[in-house]
Amino acid sequence: MISKKLQEAINKQINNEFYSEYLYLSMAAYFDAENLDGIAHFFYVQTKEENVHAMKLFRFLIEKGGRVKLHAIDAPKSEFKSVIEPFEMSLKHEQHISKCIDDLMDTAIKENDHGVISFLKWFVDEQVEEEATAEKLLYKVKLVKGEGQGLLMLNNELAGYTPKKTGAEEKA
Ligand code: FEO
Repeated sequence: MISKKLQEAINKQINNEFYSEYLYLSMAAYFDAENLDGIAHFFYVQTKEENVHAMKLFRFLIEKGGRVKLHAIDAPKSEFKSVIEPFEMSLKHEQHISKCIDDLMDTAIKENDHGVISFLKWFVDEQVEEEATAEKLLYKVKLVKGEGQGLLMLNNELAGYTPKKTGAEEKA
């Protein structure tokens, strides 16, 4: 069983995660078109991760006896003024998602639903990592001013990117 309030809040977060998937897919398409396939690869990986996040919430809500309600997904930005902009947006977006997860956790605490509280702890930890990754990449792309050999080196570095396994992904 799950309260209506928590059900609504989880459905909202499912939408946030699908929007994240869309946003990173749009960034991947941009870098792919710019022939920066290593950076594109990083964003394709992020896209898949966001789908995993959305589906974790989706399945959990059903397991809790709730109803999934899918909302419309907003269109993400598809043109960027420089290669730095997607990295800036990515960090800002992850900070926003962390706040959404915190708010969701606050609701679960208010509703005294320990099953949801326990489940959400994975997302709290995941967000720490998501923000750290986005922050590091923004630092690097700014360091090379988003151009030249430095950018190509970053592109090569990201071509081999694999997300760190936290253990929870394997179960998703
Ligand atoms: Fe699902 Fe990147 O937060």
